[in-house]
Amino acid sequence: MALAVQPSGAALGAVVEGLDLTKPLSDEIFEEILAAFHCHHVLCFRDQDLDEESFIAFSRRFGELQTHVLSQWLRDDYPEIYILSNYDMAGSGKPTGGDKVARVWHSDLSFAEVPALATLLYAVEVPSEGGNTEFANMLAAHDALDERSKRRLEKLRAIHDLQTSHNRIKQKPLTEEQIKAAPPVEHPIVRTHTPTGRKGLYMGYGHTKGVVGMSEKEGQVLIDELVAFSTEPRFVYSHKWCVGDVVLWDNRCTMHRGTPYDDRERRRMLRTTVKGTEIPA
Ligand code: SIN
Repeated sequence: MALAVQPSGAALGAVVEGLDLTKPLSDEIFEEILAAFHCHHVLCFRDQDLDEESFIAFSRRFGELQTHVLSQWLRDDYPEIYILSNYDMAGSGKPTGGDKVARVWHSDLSFAEVPALATLLYAVEVPSEGGNTEFANMLAAHDALDERSKRRLEKLRAIHDLQTSHNRIKQKPLTEEQIKAAPPVEHPIVRTHTPTGRKGLYMGYGHTKGVVGMSEKEGQVLIDELVAFSTEPRFVYSHKWCVGDVVLWDNRCTMHRGTPYDDRERRRMLRTTVKGTEIPA
């Protein structure tokens, strides 16, 4: 059976049609999903009705799941699930700002030595307007650079640091334990996307603190320029959420960010993170 995959028409992203993710997927179908994932980098499976276990089971098909270092957002009963929500579900129901952390361009867990391979979000509640997730195709952005910039960037490494990005967005400070678990790391600014062998830009505003061998200011100017370039509309797909969407993305070759919305409306997503298998190179 051939999978029905509808490309978004933008630089990345596609909708996979006709699958019920509560049902076991044959290896043959899963291979087709993987091929679509490597080609489109962001896949949406619409109209899903999943419980936690089926969401985890589907996520696990892509690899081992990661328990996020920001443990305050994890479900006690399912620590593989990170709750991305703008309200406190357990208590007051008041806005928590918990999903504001994702409003700047980033690639998930780039602050880790072995960053996340993929992320899945399952939409449970969505606002009527805004609250999209935007994705940038970092392979296409790299392809579009002139040869001189490609050669220059090839030699550079960026410093990624969860603590810096966390402080920038004025969240509750990280605990000592979280700081210890996520020390700053360096990754090349040009990274090879292993499944396709293509080169892509790898940095972001979110977790990138600077560039090795440059002053803080000089490094920030370069990062800002690269983020501005790689998020030009020609490289971006903006996902408008519907309840029941499961969106899967490849952190090795994309960046993403959430867009603002009226905080009086609720937005709640369940998120799983697929562990990376390689140090970026
Ligand atoms: C994320 O960065 O994990 C989520 C992005 C969003 O809130 O849309």
